[in-house]
Amino acid sequence: MSALLAAQRDQHKLTEDELVGNLVNLIFAGMGTTTRQLASAVADIVTAGEWERLAAEPELIGPAINESLRFSPVTQLVVRIAQEDFDFGGVRFPKGTRFLLNLLAASRDPQKFPDPDTFDISRVTDDSRLPFGWGVHRCLGQPLARLLMEEGLRLTLARLTEVGIVERDRGPHPAEMLGGPGRLVLTFGRR
Ligand code: HEM
Repeated sequence: MSALLAAQRDQHKLTEDELVGNLVNLIFAGMGTTTRQLASAVADIVTAGEWERLAAEPELIGPAINESLRFSPVTQLVVRIAQEDFDFGGVRFPKGTRFLLNLLAASRDPQKFPDPDTFDISRVTDDSRLPFGWGVHRCLGQPLARLLMEEGLRLTLARLTEVGIVERDRGPHPAEMLGGPGRLVLTFGRR
């Protein structure tokens, strides 16, 4: 945000409208995604019965976040426009075709992820192209998002035990770009 403000104020590289648009985009892209993905990770870990194992083995926090990004991706789709004609799966797509790429379906693809409907923190999913996109629009905040979620989960694991889920809302419709629970109610004890 500081760099964007400086670019507009000192270097005159952005108009005021472009500055405001970029700041709004950054807040939208950074806040709801990270908080909802962290809530999803907590819910996934509790549901899979892995809370105490993770508390005892914090080195598994990174893999657990990766698996939650696959199992419950908050970015449910990304948008693309074909830059040239091409064929895929025997279908012709002309230049200019608009696509909604379904990340919910892609991350449960059994050809890429064996037993895809199981939340498995020992699964190796270090390829971040699905949850964070790729190409020129690849997520700008990926390292920050991982850091926030890992640190948030580390603190929560260190403080809470006997965690149970009382309520997890289903989140927005799968056709919305951003999913994940807006509300996750837990019962817990203090460690
Ligand atoms: C769990 C958290 C996050 C997830 C799952 C996520 C996911 C994504 C995805 C899928 C895209 C689109 C990529 C594409 O179209 O190929 C994206 C773009 C973007 N993300 Fe994130 N993101 C997260 C957190 C953040 C954070 C913390 C920030 C900033 C602080 C951020 C900033 C952005 C920006 C600015 C873009 C647009 C990039 C562009 O169009 O050039 N994201 N993110």
